[in-house]
Amino acid sequence: MELPAGPRAPALWQTVAWMVRPAAFLRRIHGRFGDPVTIRTFWTEEPMVLFSHPNAVREVFQLDPAIAPAGESWEFLRPFAGPHSILLLDGDPHLRERRLLQRPFHGERMRQFRPMVAELAQRELGTWRGRVVTLERMRQLTLEIILRVVFGARTEAEVAQLGGVIEDTLEGVRSLPRVLAMVVVRRDFGPRSPWGRFRAAVERFDALLLDLVARRRSHPGGDSLLSALLEQRDEDGGAPTDQHIRDQLVALLVGGHDSSAASLAWAFERLARHPAVHARLADGDSAYLDAVVKEVMRVRPALTIAPRRLLEPVAIAGRALPAGVQVAACLWLAMRREDLWPCAGAFWPERWLEGSKSDPMAWIPFGGGVRRCAGAPFAEMEMREVLRAAAKLNIRPVRAEAEHARRSMLVVVPDRGGEVLVR
Ligand code: HEM
Repeated sequence: MELPAGPRAPALWQTVAWMVRPAAFLRRIHGRFGDPVTIRTFWTEEPMVLFSHPNAVREVFQLDPAIAPAGESWEFLRPFAGPHSILLLDGDPHLRERRLLQRPFHGERMRQFRPMVAELAQRELGTWRGRVVTLERMRQLTLEIILRVVFGARTEAEVAQLGGVIEDTLEGVRSLPRVLAMVVVRRDFGPRSPWGRFRAAVERFDALLLDLVARRRSHPGGDSLLSALLEQRDEDGGAPTDQHIRDQLVALLVGGHDSSAASLAWAFERLARHPAVHARLADGDSAYLDAVVKEVMRVRPALTIAPRRLLEPVAIAGRALPAGVQVAACLWLAMRREDLWPCAGAFWPERWLEGSKSDPMAWIPFGGGVRRCAGAPFAEMEMREVLRAAAKLNIRPVRAEAEHARRSMLVVVPDRGGEVLVR
């Protein structure tokens, strides 16, 4: 069975292009080979077929998880994510876990989180003067938000202690070459080797987290997500184990920290270069704020693909594909199609105000189907609150030219960190 055409360059070259200049790479291969296109990178052992037309994207998201599991694509995270992690599960166990995890993200509890997120955002942005690398600041802010809202950290000391250990652990997995090297080697050559250091960081992190869970169990209450997770009961009325709660907290951390920070850094990168958009934000119109959030995620999505590995042959958009390959909805290409998004590369929030309805499979920064981002309502609320605070700032770009996209672990970030000058 022949795969759709794609670049003939060696996998090493494609891997480098994929990491160093992901947007340029995707634009180039789409221009040359169209939709679908097959790429070969070290990211997955198998070739990966990327689709971007909404009909094909819909078919990818509707694939039966028994035939096209997504959990296997995260396998390399297992040593950190843990065996109960939603990221690694498929089929019924995945759906069960999803029902548990998603519940607190809706309704009243979500609304309760908003004031705290708004306050943390205002406090952070209120300290900005001169040159600010927004990606660094947003990593700090989104981590603090997760620690307080999700983990229920109550004091400055708790935030500082957990934050320090988490940063140490994530440092070990943020560099893609280092992760790939660790996964390939996965041997502990002593405490100074990358794998040894990583394992030690995860152990320190686990000890702190399990201690936090034990303290919250003995003093229940509070309105954090952790307290909601502790109230979970499965179909038989059983409470989750500490290890299970630990894996849920880590899934929320892995899913929600770098992705939100990257999207927010892109928001600053775009706003600094579009003063008219920034000025209009200050009017306080919530429909416009929503439009800016949507447009940032369309034109600069933090994640570029939602991959699934085929265990059986399937046909997508009329293309027969063999078992053993990866297929992916390409979020980046789907949201840059000129046939669906006029002037697709332009940052133009007004397009969202004109009442024109786009195909739901054309705006997919959160992926789709049964694996669509479990934290999407939270992520959008967080972006709205940070941009509301940003509307009051006076910012301009440090350099006029737009920042390129580069990969940092799983997400795509501005290559100069979304640097801005604040006056
Ligand atoms: C702007 C920020 C965010 C973006 C762009 C984003 C994007 C995504 C994407 C593309 C996926 C994979 C979807 C798929 O494979 O079809 C995903 C999954 C996930 N996200 Fe997010 N996310 C964001 C924020 C968050 C937040 C704040 C949380 C939680 C606090 C979160 C938790 C998760 C979880 C748990 C999953 C796994 C869902 C599953 O496997 O069923 N994300 N996210």
